[in-house]
Amino acid sequence: MKKENKTHDETKLISGGRDPESNFGIVNPPVYHASTVLSPTLADWRTRDPMKDIVYGRMGTPTQKSLENATALLEGGDKAFATSSGLGAITVALMSFTEAGDHVLMTDSAYNPARSFCLNVLAKYGVETTFFDPTIGKNISNLMKKNTKVVYAETPGSLSFEMQDIPAISEITHEHGAVLMHDNTWGTPLFFKSFDMGVDISIHAATKYIVGHSDAMLGILVTTDKHYETVYRGFRSSGQHAAPDDCYLALRGLRTLGVRLNQHQENALVVARWLESREEISQVLYPALESHPGHELWKRDFLGSTGLFSIILDKHYDDISLGAMLDEMDLFAMGASWGGYESLILPGSPIRSATKWAPEGTLLRLHIGLEHTENLISDLDAGLARLKAASKP
Ligand SMILES: Cc1ncc(COP(=O)(O)O)c(C=O)c1O
Repeated sequence: MKKENKTHDETKLISGGRDPESNFGIVNPPVYHASTVLSPTLADWRTRDPMKDIVYGRMGTPTQKSLENATALLEGGDKAFATSSGLGAITVALMSFTEAGDHVLMTDSAYNPARSFCLNVLAKYGVETTFFDPTIGKNISNLMKKNTKVVYAETPGSLSFEMQDIPAISEITHEHGAVLMHDNTWGTPLFFKSFDMGVDISIHAATKYIVGHSDAMLGILVTTDKHYETVYRGFRSSGQHAAPDDCYLALRGLRTLGVRLNQHQENALVVARWLESREEISQVLYPALESHPGHELWKRDFLGSTGLFSIILDKHYDDISLGAMLDEMDLFAMGASWGGYESLILPGSPIRSATKWAPEGTLLRLHIGLEHTENLISDLDAGLARLKAASKP
């Protein structure tokens, strides 16, 4: 009898979405640029199905479908949709499941433009949003209303790094007939299996780790058969389009996601532990550290940790001192986004409405890239020395 062999994630990363037989044996799905897709007959024109077939460039090319299939396979969802950006995936998800009179519960730690979309756009269409303490867990039941249609999570929050109890939140969400959305950009489809955890719609800024090289913009929504049609309607009506070249780059990035993430994780742990030992740092907000308040949840629910975390300095520094540190960094560059191969550093201030964010020091967010940790640590060491030298006693 043939031995049943489980397909491991490393294998899914390599084989997912590939179809050399349909592409002259070419290993990587090629880039298809398309708007018009011709029908050979009237019968074909009448019967082609935009949900399954390649019918028009905006609705997806074979390159896009390859990426969508590979991502869904990896995360354990049934279907995926590629959007023009991560924020595009967030807005499609929220619009697909809400209408006037509905209520959304959103984690207070959500990526700020997701908050703004609720407050500045959904509100105009009669959808109310309440923010909740990211650590609320089962007590989210106290905030559920009759008209709550969506609960929106992000674990860990990508600036403040609180961990959320997604299975507990999922249970309550489903008891109330709502859907649970989760921004899984930090965890990626590799390290957080959203659908095993009870998520209905998983959102990725593929711009970050999936692309992995800081050179393309893309979002991906992954969902289950149960919610597929609702997401599809929202996706199709919103005019979203994922650029074919960016889909190609994301698919190419996906093949090495596993090895890259393992290295980001290893490097981040070394740098985080070093930072923890420094007197200029009062807190390192990295869930893989034992000192992180959400460490047990991370251990329970995640298969790994990635390269993004924040630190809280020992006090608040003005821009003259911060500039002395950051302007002269050799390897840590300042720039939006994260998830590429390079290290980044930026000051940040989480925006809150349901919870208080008042640490006693400045927050810096670091992305730990694939450089050697000895070089990263000496860059930070010299930076912290400049910070201290420039700050008033
Ligand atoms: C957690 C998170 N979600 C979503 C996004 C949005 O992704 P994009 O920049 O591709 O729109 C970002 C971007 O920084 C992010 O950090």
